[in-house]
Amino acid sequence: MRKSFLLLIMIAFSICANAQKAKKMALTPPMGWNSWNTFGTDINEQLVMQTADAFVELGLKDAGYEYIVLDDGWMAKERDENNNLVPDPKKFPGGIKSIVDYVHSKGLKFGLYECAGNQTCAGYPGSRGFEYQDAKLYAEWGIDFLKYDWCNTENINAKGAYQTMRDALYAAGRPIVFSICEWGDNEPWKWGEEMGHLWRVTGDITNCWDCEVGHGNWSSRGIWPIINLRKDLRKYAGPGHWNDLDMMEVGNGMTDSEDRVHLAMWSLLTSPLILGNDLRTMSGETLKTIENKNVIAVNQDVLGIQAYCHLKSPDLEIWVKPLANEEWAVAFVNMSKEELQLSYDWWKHPINDQLTHKQLEKKYKSYSMYDLYASKNIGLTNKNLESKIKGHDVLLLKLSPQK
Ligand code: GLA
Repeated sequence: MRKSFLLLIMIAFSICANAQKAKKMALTPPMGWNSWNTFGTDINEQLVMQTADAFVELGLKDAGYEYIVLDDGWMAKERDENNNLVPDPKKFPGGIKSIVDYVHSKGLKFGLYECAGNQTCAGYPGSRGFEYQDAKLYAEWGIDFLKYDWCNTENINAKGAYQTMRDALYAAGRPIVFSICEWGDNEPWKWGEEMGHLWRVTGDITNCWDCEVGHGNWSSRGIWPIINLRKDLRKYAGPGHWNDLDMMEVGNGMTDSEDRVHLAMWSLLTSPLILGNDLRTMSGETLKTIENKNVIAVNQDVLGIQAYCHLKSPDLEIWVKPLANEEWAVAFVNMSKEELQLSYDWWKHPINDQLTHKQLEKKYKSYSMYDLYASKNIGLTNKNLESKIKGHDVLLLKLSPQK
């Protein structure tokens, strides 16, 4: 009796310790790669290993990308006789642990997909009723990130379902970033911080600038429909808890300039930067975009403040994000397909963030402007900013006060 009481106390302590550790994870938006956008369920161990190699060889690891996440389709159709999840033996003949070890040996982290329902969206076994058993298996395999989806959940309570898996992960004893993939249906921004580290805010992304494709009871959306639908959620984001605008489509079919806008906007909006393209075959221009360290630094800024739209007209949107050290990131996005001649007076509509009460300070004589994609200084804010921006492209600047 006394022994089991002691054991209970020890378990309770360990769960509390893991909960504390979880609070210190994902203090900047997670960065990595996910298999779904390009490969769907057509995944296997070579793909994982080649992607891990590409992370290192192409400099993506140095640029900050860290997690390699296997999405839906990694499992066999049935659990085993002990109800454990089984990796598909054809796709993963060596099992999951061996590819996790490979990814870890490259200094990277590994993520896996599951679902809160009875089945995943692609029809593989879901975690419902097996949460503690599955979490224990993930910990044994050395998983660092769990994306937890929302298909086939009937009418279960979303907050409760994510809480159950969160507690199962705590009990399993391994620090795991918990990615809530509930598509925004139950306003996860209102409870997600308590349950996990990031939460999807929409249904699935698709690789276009502004299209919306209906699929009966849900729609997939291009980058601007996602941004416009969820731009008002900025107060919910911050270190350790992020609005997830979905895996990126950079390199998957939009133009290079649209891809630059995509990365810039995901960075400004502090979304996790999860690549969704084939890293083994991408163009040099795509690589140049995704590993632009200046742009990534905007996403990874320690304050973790999500950007807002400062000014908007049919052809031009200006988005601003307060950064540490009184710096700012400012994006001028050309929304039209024609080249735009920009002439902008910084002090006509002074930047003044209602949420954080930060503003462009008049007390500084001016701010220097650094063009983050071109990697060059382009002058000071005491004069009008004059620039040409190509159609569907962005001028992304960092402003630093001249003290
Ligand atoms: C849902 C998710 C996607 C992907 C698929 C897998 O649609 O939103 O990101 O994980 O399921 O089936």
